[in-house]
Amino acid sequence: MSTTPLFAPATVLLVFASDAQPSGLRLALETVGMEVVETGDEQQAREVIHQAPPTAVLTDLALPGGDGLGVLSAAKAADGTLPVIVATEPGNVLDAVSAMKGGALDCVVKPLDVGQLVSLVERAVGAYREVAEVLPFTTAAGADVPGIVGRDPRLATVLRGLGRAAATDATVLLQGESGTGKELFARALHLLSPRADGPFVAINCAAIPENLLESELFGHEKGAFTGAVARKLGKFEVADGGTLFLDEIGDLPGALQAKILRAVELRSFERVGGTQSITVDVRQVAATNRELRARVAAGLFREDLFFRLSVFPIQIPPLRDRMTDVPLLARFFLVKVCADLGRPLVSLSLAAEDHLMSYAWPGNVRELQNCIERAVIMCEGAELRPADLSLDTGAVERPAADPWDAIDLSGSLADASRRALGEVERRKVVAALQDAGSHTGRAADALQISHRALVVKMQEHGIQT
Ligand SMILES: Nc1ncnc2c1ncn2[C@@H]1O[C@H](COP(=O)(O)OP(=O)(O)OP(=O)(O)O)[C@@H](O)[C@H]1O
Ligand SMILES: [Mg+2]
Repeated sequence: MSTTPLFAPATVLLVFASDAQPSGLRLALETVGMEVVETGDEQQAREVIHQAPPTAVLTDLALPGGDGLGVLSAAKAADGTLPVIVATEPGNVLDAVSAMKGGALDCVVKPLDVGQLVSLVERAVGAYREVAEVLPFTTAAGADVPGIVGRDPRLATVLRGLGRAAATDATVLLQGESGTGKELFARALHLLSPRADGPFVAINCAAIPENLLESELFGHEKGAFTGAVARKLGKFEVADGGTLFLDEIGDLPGALQAKILRAVELRSFERVGGTQSITVDVRQVAATNRELRARVAAGLFREDLFFRLSVFPIQIPPLRDRMTDVPLLARFFLVKVCADLGRPLVSLSLAAEDHLMSYAWPGNVRELQNCIERAVIMCEGAELRPADLSLDTGAVERPAADPWDAIDLSGSLADASRRALGEVERRKVVAALQDAGSHTGRAADALQISHRALVVKMQEHGIQT
């Protein structure tokens, strides 16, 4: 733990019943330069948050005469970006899920470890300040969209765009690699829009055989073709009053592109085998993982349809370009998977977190979700370890990005240097411990420092073996 605060002192609000607060926590936080406010009461915590908003909140979920979830919702109502860490009993999975859904940054499982808590709070304060400095966004701007986890500034920019687009009826084109969250964002867009009470109808243009796609989109009249035994409404009609999500639009066959263009432009069409023109009130959102512009250049996608769809283009960055979101997403999925499997909560060790950070995630968020699911099933203890993750970090090289881009250069020269050096030191220690199979003596030898110096460094960086 660094003994010099990087910024003006952060204030941490601790909400624990007097006998539940880990002993030494207050002192440990003060030692790293934080100011601490304590209360054991939900109502008092609400008042503190209202009157003198802290920089971070650490609350027990179980409070006498109250509830940590109440503290969380008060904090989120005051400032949607305020980091809140909740502490829970291993068996209390349902409340932990509610806390993560309610926007908690992290959920720690008892028994609590003071060193780990301090490093979590330090990270939370650092991330919060970064976000607050770079992006003075508010919840109203759509940054805290329910169900979408992530604090990376690039993602926040996307979410702000999503919030703005939601207020209009403009056609939105979501582009991003597979697994980046296009469908999730399309649903969020609908929920944020004035059409939220209307239907959200999705159609996957790549999954439906070409000869059935037209009838799926526009419906058909009875007898329109063999097998058309009754009139059927198409997705455009079913989505009337709501949002139509045209997924994998890049794979739309050429013949249908002209028909879709007309329907998108005029919001009217005919059912297959019908003559009557049907007009609908539908907001369209399209998505693709293909380079649509390149398909236009190659003559595979109509340029006029491309322009018509991309009135409001949104590019979702791949996960490797927003690696700071990896631990947040991993913890979110951990809690969710444990709840789905009905097993006690498993926490993420710092070594496992580093392991996740060293992988390029070609399958993006979906791959991370699957990895955590698999790891929880493999994991036998209360903590996920690197081995549980079965990640082939050697096989997939991270695409050559400029490593200097990842370094936070904000603040004074001294601040930036201290942060960068601190991170190099932490990574070096974690790597040495991993190589030494957590044997501190061997790790100290490899680092060419004394065993005592290693223990101090591990304490400073909140590293556990
Ligand atoms: N930021 C996020 N927060 C929480 N969950 C996310 C986030 N992004 C993606 N997910 C989850 O990851 C999974 C994949 O997302 P989604 O299906 O929306 O991706 P996609 O871009 O449509 O992928 P594909 O191109 O393969 O269809 C889903 O389970 C989704 O809920
Ligand atoms: Mg999808």
